[in-house]
Amino acid sequence: MILNISDRKGVPVRQDMIGLFFEDINYAADGGLYAELLENRAFEFADCYGTRGDYYVLPDCGYGWEATEDCGRGRLLFVTGSPVSRRNPHYLRFTADRAGQGFSNQAYRGLYLEAGKAYRVSFYARAVSARGNFLVSVRKGTETLLCGAVPIRVPDPEKGNRWERYELTLTAAADTEGARFAVALERPGTAEFDFFSMMPDDAVAGVFRRDLFELLKGLHPGFLRFPGGCIVEGNTLENRYRWKESVGPLEERRSNFNRWAVHQTAEENGWHTGYAHYNQTLGLGFYEYFLLCDLIGAKPLPVLNVGLACQYQSLEKVEIGDPAFEKFIQDALDLVEFANGGTDTYWGGLRAGMGHPKPFGLTMLGIGNEQWQTPESKFFERYRAFEKAIHERYPQIRLIGSAGPDIVSDHYRDAWAFYHGEAEKNGNFCYAVDEHYYVKPEWFYAHTDFYDRYPRNVKVFSGEYAAHPAFEAVEEANTLGGALAEAAFLTGVERNADVVVLASYAPLFARVGYVQWTPDLIWFDERAAYGTPSYYVQKLYGEHLGTCTVPMDGQEKELEKEGIYVNCSLREDSGELILKAVNRGTCAKELTLRLPESFRTPETVSLSVLAGQENDHNTIEAPQNVRTQTRETPFAGHLRLEPISFTVARLAVLPPKRQ
Ligand code: AHR
Repeated sequence: MILNISDRKGVPVRQDMIGLFFEDINYAADGGLYAELLENRAFEFADCYGTRGDYYVLPDCGYGWEATEDCGRGRLLFVTGSPVSRRNPHYLRFTADRAGQGFSNQAYRGLYLEAGKAYRVSFYARAVSARGNFLVSVRKGTETLLCGAVPIRVPDPEKGNRWERYELTLTAAADTEGARFAVALERPGTAEFDFFSMMPDDAVAGVFRRDLFELLKGLHPGFLRFPGGCIVEGNTLENRYRWKESVGPLEERRSNFNRWAVHQTAEENGWHTGYAHYNQTLGLGFYEYFLLCDLIGAKPLPVLNVGLACQYQSLEKVEIGDPAFEKFIQDALDLVEFANGGTDTYWGGLRAGMGHPKPFGLTMLGIGNEQWQTPESKFFERYRAFEKAIHERYPQIRLIGSAGPDIVSDHYRDAWAFYHGEAEKNGNFCYAVDEHYYVKPEWFYAHTDFYDRYPRNVKVFSGEYAAHPAFEAVEEANTLGGALAEAAFLTGVERNADVVVLASYAPLFARVGYVQWTPDLIWFDERAAYGTPSYYVQKLYGEHLGTCTVPMDGQEKELEKEGIYVNCSLREDSGELILKAVNRGTCAKELTLRLPESFRTPETVSLSVLAGQENDHNTIEAPQNVRTQTRETPFAGHLRLEPISFTVARLAVLPPKRQ
């Protein structure tokens, strides 16, 4: 097989085109990227039930907590009255009848501690009649593995019985799993508690679980879309994501149940599933998402609610024209001020007070998640209202529209007709339209030309996509076969980089045993994390982007008939030709590269190869079963494409440009 390389330049490739989609699904935030180890730390968790149009929650303040038993059981009462924060009204009133009685937290399915690592513990407490010390420990069964004591501050009668913040650090002597966090009273008495926390000392910026953070950073993402996904909309409007409630002191962030807590409820399970206690503490809030963008070098792309609950799950909405609708628009305007405003502005001042006086450099904003137009939803009218208000004040902000939940229905066609029509009148109306597609691998192979004929005036954001191969166990869903189909499709995305300007795989994270949606890019449990084959495809694309494409002149179509999916680009700064090729066949193939006369033939080629069997996948036990192998080999005009593989080849064909 021969590929003639052109010396013409194709279209420019945005260096931030390959990015991330973050949603708090599959325990991606609490119990995931948010490094907090304790579950239901502020006694606000809800137990969630229901179905479309009929959702309800039962407060379950004691979820995850129980009395310890070794000195007899003390009494746990979950009360309201005078909490640390009115936004999180419940707290624990604990009475020990005997010295040493206490209570413990399950910490998801048990604490995992690493030998030598320090863990920062903090909590608010109010000594009612308790005296002596609070005894803080990590226990497994009745065995105490780690412990520390903090003297109880006796209330000053002049000041009343006020909440006091306590802190201590515990350092693990040995690796430990399946343990519980516990607190006991040294002497009989009553005390009240709220906002417990146990954070690994190595959490990045004191917030992000380090191994997950490193995996994100390792992708070199161009942007980060957050906070979802359907959680932007909520399964009810009450449950929607409100960014303003996610910033400021942690204690002031109102806990909310997670929209995915009612995933897959049915009559047979009593409208209640194993995810029913999936809640959001909002410890990862908008400030932290912006901070994460800063730390991993990604552009922020927040997505906002447009007054509609998830259209799959609800008909709830706020009518356009209702004063409440104006608040949704105001939220968008205030968000720009929070991200970019001077420290003398209200929201910019809050950002500065949280530790980031420098603006976050917001340039893009998503208007609605996966909305579509119906006579009731009136999404297009909503988009218009947002666009007008935002662009009147901030014309430079690039807005992202929505093509709805798929790329085949009338919703999708109507959306594109709308954005293209409006773009004729106002070029700044919509920068890119967010498309979502979760499809079979075969669809990806058959549609590498999907964007070839798209009009170029409104751009595309491939905001959620993934190949969904057939699978038996959820942990086996992220196969190499699926990842190669995505890599093949991305050759077409890259070739059309003048219209597809942003692309993100979805969803990003899954915690083993807590999964509502699969496949997912990165898997983890309490101990470890790994990238799936799809992760390595994303990483290869993110790390090996040209600055412009090299025209393929239709040759890709011929190669596809042979099961080879190719695109070429050029890095004008380094003078490298970058070739990406998927070989989906079970035999190796040789691809001869005919370089134009103006290119020199390099002596070596640098290769990054992802190869294996269709069903190969990674697991916690075998995290690198499928991974990229890199090598520099002699180049004699041909590339060997391994069976069932994705290859990225870099060839120095032009002199590097001086900076
Ligand atoms: O990625 C999972 C879900 O898929 C997202 O929440 C939603 O936007 C889409 O339907």
